[in-house]
Order: sequence, then structure tokens, then C-alpha cells
Amino acid sequence: MTTSNATVPISPNITWVGVCDPELKDFHGFETPLGSSYNSYLVRGSSKIALVDVANEGFVPELLSKISSQVELAEIDYIVVNHIEPDHGGGLRLVKEALPNAEILCSSGAAKGIAAFHGADLAVTVVSATDLIDLGGVTLQFLPMPMVHWPDSMFTYVAESKTLLPNDAFGQHIGTSETRWADEYGFDKTMDAVNLYYANILMPLSTTIRRALDKIVELGWEIETIAPSHGLAWRGEGVARIIERYEHNLSAVGDGSVALVYTTAWHSTEKMAGQIAELLRARGVTVHVLDLETVPWSAITQQVMESSVLVAGSPTLHNSMFYRMAGYLHYLTVLKPSLKLAAAFGSYGWSSGATKQMRQALEAAGVEMPLEDLQIKYRPLAADEETIVSWVDELVKAVV
Ligand code: FEO
Repeated sequence: MTTSNATVPISPNITWVGVCDPELKDFHGFETPLGSSYNSYLVRGSSKIALVDVANEGFVPELLSKISSQVELAEIDYIVVNHIEPDHGGGLRLVKEALPNAEILCSSGAAKGIAAFHGADLAVTVVSATDLIDLGGVTLQFLPMPMVHWPDSMFTYVAESKTLLPNDAFGQHIGTSETRWADEYGFDKTMDAVNLYYANILMPLSTTIRRALDKIVELGWEIETIAPSHGLAWRGEGVARIIERYEHNLSAVGDGSVALVYTTAWHSTEKMAGQIAELLRARGVTVHVLDLETVPWSAITQQVMESSVLVAGSPTLHNSMFYRMAGYLHYLTVLKPSLKLAAAFGSYGWSSGATKQMRQALEAAGVEMPLEDLQIKYRPLAADEETIVSWVDELVKAVV
């Protein structure tokens, strides 16, 4: 166990000097109920010291305080920037000003981004996959990994410590200061946070995530520790577990369940959602009923990623789908979920329109929608039961 002011040895020659942000509840629109951390690492050789990754600008004083508890700030020779997004790179200028002898190392993509974000006067040295920085018996290797998560993203590898520092990859938004290890926090809880993070941040980047996993294998890097720049690190069996989880998420097979996502105005669509869920369960299909008004959209998106089928319900207002569904389908489809299929339902009054718009949004995102839309005028009555049962039977046939 550690305190929030602690530094933590991660592997031989590497010390966590990051900061925890347990109060963070929104990460650019992605709800983070467990907060997050901005992990920085000191890598020490016999002659030189590197700081890998920085932090959000507001956390720089805490970061510098932690570094100072380990080494003199003037002793640091390199600042490795694996990623320039402000949660990691926002404090770069302040950190560089505090580390007078440090040279900034980054990818070519990061060099452009740092100039645009911080100004061209912040000098950097571009490194590539062929560079090796010797800290004195401890080396840094680099793997530029564009679009894991931004064009500038890069992994750093310390061969002597068998440790991969992959920044956003393999991370989670967990802000605890009680431990730095997934195994101590609990694999189940950590994996849940992995999937929340993956669904809301990495899901649209599956091609580049695939490339990253393949590249690590191709390089033959021995890895005993993976220390990302958010949340907890992986060691022992945790290394295989997190890679297996990424392989599973990349396979996009889903667990066969239905994510039934709905919103309602006068409870008619809500009633339809309940009837559909009950009928599906009676037919042996696992259903997760998710109300867009009460369940965080990031959690809904995690469930959509883990399920195989999306059933979306919205009433019609002003000839259109309800704004919550319009907003959610935008949130979801830019994340490029891999769904087996989707289906649309909803109530309407004197004119319909919601299901047509939901269909358009999902089909435009490449999702197959083999069923006719289910529409009920005003509210579902006993006379509508047969229509709903038939629709669910068709849905079950398509799902299995
Ligand atoms: Fe954690 Fe893409 O920044």
C-alpha cells in the first residue's frame, strides 16, 4: 500500500513518480467514476536519468515534488514524451523549465504537436525505433505507435527491466493511491475499468492497437511489467491477462447478449423496452436494459462493446428521435462499435420518424439492421402484444 505522496518502485531501475487524481469524474466527456492517475516514471542508469511522461499542467508541482524526493531535478538528462495529449503533455513546458539539463525526446509526430501546442521554441529531439539511449547499463528503446492514441503516441521499452511503458495503451482510469498494481487492486475490478477505458477511448483505433500488439511480438521484447500512464500496472500473470483482454476486445465477438438502450418521453417506449427485455429473457437471451437518462453513456458504451446486439428505442418528437438518442448514437458511432446487428423500436403519436433516424445513423456506421423497425402508436396496449412478440421472435432468430 502507498500514500498519495509516495513514489513506488515498479521494476529494477524504474520508479513511479506519478500523481493520482481521484476526483476526476469526466475525461473529455467520458465519465470516470474511479478518477484517474497520470503516471510518470523515473528510469535510472549508472550515469543518466530519464523521466518518462509528464502530467496535466495543474499537477506539475506534485510531480516535481515527487521527482525531487528521488533525485535532484538538475540530475535528469531526458524527458521522454510518449504522448502529447494534455493529460500527459500539458505540463511539459513547466517541467522542462524545472529540469534545466533535460533533453526532450519524442516521436516525429510529437515534435510537430509540441511545437503547435507549446510553441516552436521548446526544443525537442526526435527519436525513432532504431534509436537506443544508454543511461549507463540501462537502455531506452522507442516504438512510435501513431494513433495509439494520437499521431504522436509512442511506447518506451527498458530491456534491462523487461518493462514496457506504453502510455495510454493497457491503461485504465483508476485514481486510487492505495496500490500501483492491478493484481493488488483485483483483476476483475481492474479489467472492468480496462473495458470502460477501451470502449470509450481505444475502440475506434482497433487497427492500430492490432499493429501495436503484433509489433511487440515481432520485436521479441521480453515483458515482465507493463506500466501504462493511467491507472495500475501489470506484472506476473497480469501481463498475459491484459494482453489476452486486448486480444479479446480486438476479436469483437461480443458475449451474445443484447444491449437494450432506450430513452422515453411519456413512458411508452420505456414500457416497450420492458416488454422486449422480458420476452428476450424468456427465450434465453441475456439482456442489459440501459436508460440513456440514468445510466452514464460511457458505461452504456462499455456494455455495447461487450454485447453482440444493440436494440435501440426512442419515441418520436417533432418527427425525430429524442435528443438523448440522437446524442448517444453520435457518441457511440464515432467509436465504431463492432456489432453483430442492431434493431430499432419506439412509440409515436401522429407521425413517426424516430426509428427511421436511428436506422439511418446505425446503418451509416456500418451496422446491419435486418429487422423491420418496431413502432407502436401512442402506447403499447394488449392488442399490440402479438406485434411485439412477433418482432422479438424475429430478433431472436437473427441473434442466434
Ligand atoms: Fe491519456 Fe491520449 O491521453
